[in-house]
Amino acid sequence: MFDIQNAQSAFTWWKDLAELLKDVLESLAIIAGSLALIKWFTERHDRATDVLLQLETRFQDPEIQNACHFLEDETEYLTNANVLQMAVRSSANLWPDSELNKKQPARNQSPLERVINTLLVEPAVSTPAPFNLGQLDKLLRFYVVMHGFRKARQIPDAALRTCYRYWLAHYFHTRRPAFRAYVDHFYPTLRNWLATEKAWYKRDLSRPSRFFRAGDFWNTREDCLLSQLRVATEGRVLVIAGAGLSAESGIPTFRDKGGFWQGYDPRELATKRAFERDPAKVWEFYRERRAGVRSHSPNAAHHALVELSLRVRDTNNFLLVTQNVDGYELSAGLNAARVVQIHGDILKTRCSNPKCNYSVRATDQAADDVPGACKNKTCDGILRPDVVWFDEDFRPGDEERVKEFLKAGSCDVVFVIGTSATFDYIADWAFSAVANDGWLIEINPHPSDIARFAHVVFKKPAGKVLPKLMKQLKKGEPKRK
Ligand code: OAD
Repeated sequence: MFDIQNAQSAFTWWKDLAELLKDVLESLAIIAGSLALIKWFTERHDRATDVLLQLETRFQDPEIQNACHFLEDETEYLTNANVLQMAVRSSANLWPDSELNKKQPARNQSPLERVINTLLVEPAVSTPAPFNLGQLDKLLRFYVVMHGFRKARQIPDAALRTCYRYWLAHYFHTRRPAFRAYVDHFYPTLRNWLATEKAWYKRDLSRPSRFFRAGDFWNTREDCLLSQLRVATEGRVLVIAGAGLSAESGIPTFRDKGGFWQGYDPRELATKRAFERDPAKVWEFYRERRAGVRSHSPNAAHHALVELSLRVRDTNNFLLVTQNVDGYELSAGLNAARVVQIHGDILKTRCSNPKCNYSVRATDQAADDVPGACKNKTCDGILRPDVVWFDEDFRPGDEERVKEFLKAGSCDVVFVIGTSATFDYIADWAFSAVANDGWLIEINPHPSDIARFAHVVFKKPAGKVLPKLMKQLKKGEPKRK
């Protein structure tokens, strides 16, 4: 028997449920809409997107559109590729020798050169101040330009993907970790896009690109580096060194196989607390290390750094911050005013009483046998090596000198040589020095945390790399008056 009351209540129940579902769906739609809006808004305000949008408007330029037919035909393209590459290089200001940097009369320029000049060489394409993020940004913009050319060839759907393809090729390029780190840091939206494209990129990479491949631009890596080094010798250079610099002199490093901290516990030997507890034990360690320093000498890398310092036109624009306490930079001939021994000087003995200024150079073994009471008659302190221990601040004035140098201007080249950059301040100083257009060059035969931020990584010993660089630098150098 049909029960009308039951049917009515079931109907009301279904109606309520439908209402509820409708409400839920509406709320979900509102949430999804808001999320989409937030996503659009954040992406719209991502710097990469802004740069892209700015440049896109430029591709509407009729002159640019006309000139783009040079790129439509592959043969035409190939003939012009060199010019284009040169323009791209000169745009990044990494290739000062490029032909395009020599001023050419406007009438001699081909339409392609004109478009290149408009897009890449003229300052108009440079994004305004907030976007002026240095060399890597220029590279990023180059990809945007490529994207623009693609777009002008009217492949609208593929255009952005193609742009990403170049970005991706570069983003995952093994020799350009700095680009990846840079994008990750400054372009989080882009990083997310790129990450989702990784699988596609891996599949697609085997298919040769009809246009540029990322590798096209790094074949002359050495030339670029030398150009930048030349720029740096007219500008500012910072060198940050660690134990690896002295490794080829025969001084062990700290954390490598056979390094000091493999055999000893730094807390037992390189802290003020350990010294206060057992000065004799700490002295024994330093006596041994002093003997090591005395029985070895600076190596080819130290001498190459002296040469580099002399190449920098204004001597005030060179600074070497070394974590090494052996003083080999100075014995190789570096001007003391250009060196900060941030972790001290092992061949110096000083009084542990902060109020006493007794200090003496421990030139020979005999000087190591005396540690004990301070020689200053009015002082009751005990003598210690003039090094900076883990639980101590820097020696007065050292950090200030580094900061002063950094404050005076950013560097064109920062070398980070033979350090695991265990201490944050080492990486901080390196990064802040290259903040504005500088190149970070790492020399270290083993993987390090710095490497992924470096523009160039030499995975070789410093004693091999630095003398060779200096030789190459000398070769192409115009005679100085
Ligand atoms: P580490 O021993 O931590 O790192 C040495 C680095 O040098 C490693 O990354 C090696 O791969 C690299 N290396 C080895 N041979 C090299 C070569 N021929 N050319 C270039 N690189 C080479 O030494 P540091 O980073 O200097 O501080 O250590 C920093 C500080 O920790 C030291 O100053 C010391 C130590 O504890 C104090 O004692 C306060």
